[in-house]
Amino acid sequence: MLVARDGRIWESEHGPRGGDEVNLIRRGGNYGWPIVTYGTEYSGAPWRYNPEPGEHAGFAIPRFAFLASIGISELMQPDANAFPDWRNHILAASLIGNALYALKTEGDDITYAEQIPLGERLRDLISLADGRIAIVTDSGQLMLLRNGAQHEDSASSFVVSGLANRPQLLPEEAMPDTPEMAGAVVFFYNCGTCHSTSGYTTLIGPPLNGMFGREIGSIDDYTYSPALANASGRWTPSRLRAFLNHEDRQLEGAAMPAVPLLRKDFNALVRYLRSMEDMPEEQ
Ligand code: HEC
Repeated sequence: MLVARDGRIWESEHGPRGGDEVNLIRRGGNYGWPIVTYGTEYSGAPWRYNPEPGEHAGFAIPRFAFLASIGISELMQPDANAFPDWRNHILAASLIGNALYALKTEGDDITYAEQIPLGERLRDLISLADGRIAIVTDSGQLMLLRNGAQHEDSASSFVVSGLANRPQLLPEEAMPDTPEMAGAVVFFYNCGTCHSTSGYTTLIGPPLNGMFGREIGSIDDYTYSPALANASGRWTPSRLRAFLNHEDRQLEGAAMPAVPLLRKDFNALVRYLRSMEDMPEEQ
């Protein structure tokens, strides 16, 4: 989802075959997922839930749909000063399309989608503080776009530079080779989208620093599911391991997906969480 500068909220919807959409989100709107779509089953058969195959009847229509699918991923709005050609565009990254799509917006409408081949599956893109656009590809490359001469495959002006390296959490030489650091990486990739270790930041899940020895479901300002709120006992590494594997009977029904980890990654994670114990619980 993208909140544009003018307050409009755009959403990309990764649909079935031929069903990728861009929607304009309005209060109370229902966009029909997963019932209606312009797409079909992957076999080409009509989408089984759609009462009127090929139509988007009874629900808010998308502002744009891609046939064939482009494997739509992230949406973003380029900085208007850095990319004057794109001041009224939003950009969509695509996976199978191996391209960036510049979608021209006119108020509530999208009037065209310009395909800009970049030769990579594009997973995610953001606008950097200096206006450049950073794109992460599925092959682990980081591409940077800045304004410049007219691009050979596009009506717009920009220059692409590719950094051959995967984006690093820290520069390699600065990465201390300790179990805590390995655990920080495990945490970053497996838990960090939903949890913090800074004590006072509640994300989708409660903060995890100082969790060993803490009562299960005991962060005051976090609203737990009944499974965790009513559980008894304290967190230990073995309880955590069972919880991550969804093997703890008492915690069945908790609102967290299973996150099974290799033993060595789990051990590193425990070291990391322990090393964060002294962080303040509240601020
Ligand atoms: C997709 C989001 C998501 C991811 C990823 C995730 N968690 Fe959670 N986690 C949650 C939510 C939501 C809760 C609260 C669950 C509830 O109330 O039932 C939670 C609760 C917990 C709790 C209970 C804390 C307490 O105060 O009792 C622990 C421990 C925990 N998670 C550990 C982890 C670890 C370790 C990882 C990574 C290996 C992880 N989680 C990955 C969403 C996530």
